[in-house]
Amino acid sequence: MNLDSQYWDNRYLHHETGWDMGVVSPPLKSYIDQIHNKDLSIMIPGGGNSYEAAYLASQAFGDVTVIDIAPSLVEKLQEQFKHTRIKVICGDFFEHTGSYDLVLEQTFFCAIDPAKRPEYAAHMYSLLKPGGHLAGVLFDRTFEQSGPPFGGSQEEYEKLFSTLFDIKTLQPCYNSHPARKGCELFINLMPKIKHLCDNSY
Ligand SMILES: C[S@@+](CC[C@H](N)C(=O)[O-])C[C@H]1O[C@@H](n2cnc3c(N)ncnc32)[C@H](O)[C@@H]1O
Repeated sequence: MNLDSQYWDNRYLHHETGWDMGVVSPPLKSYIDQIHNKDLSIMIPGGGNSYEAAYLASQAFGDVTVIDIAPSLVEKLQEQFKHTRIKVICGDFFEHTGSYDLVLEQTFFCAIDPAKRPEYAAHMYSLLKPGGHLAGVLFDRTFEQSGPPFGGSQEEYEKLFSTLFDIKTLQPCYNSHPARKGCELFINLMPKIKHLCDNSY
């Protein structure tokens, strides 16, 4: 299966968006709520309908970037967010360059080919500033049908991320959306070596 921009655009055009919860992800909302520094540069890859970005903007975060590969979705988001400070980029996460304090993960990791997971980890590492964080949720389950979504386990994620990241949190989520209860792990990872100062968010 070729999980390219056309694949994802078609999913949106045909309203095949079973992943879309229609609200900000509760664990991400809680995480965002304890961040005091509204000037952090925050990136959301594969943001979809971008409830997390909208929530960040509503909470006065001023430097929020969404990257998504589906052109018609991005066009819609750019219109939707045109009076906010949310920047929406149409592009491939793996080709994106930048430098962020925080990257938020919400059903993007599970949407990419599992063979690309090491590349995901390495690219996240390259996008984060020293002291930065990759935070969000990952599935803690497998799926019967061939993906996306592609599942995984705590053990697998530990192995994947521990070379490049210090794992501050990798544990079952206590505040998942009811549809994902018991199926999510919360992650808070900091790039190794780069974390000269931990701003504790
Ligand atoms: C399962 S959806 C999740 C959307 C959103 N995060 C949510 O929870 O509703 C995956 C999203 O990632 C986007 N996507 C897939 N591969 C991508 C890539 N390589 N770069 C950027 N976005 C990508 C898709 O267009 C889609 O919007």
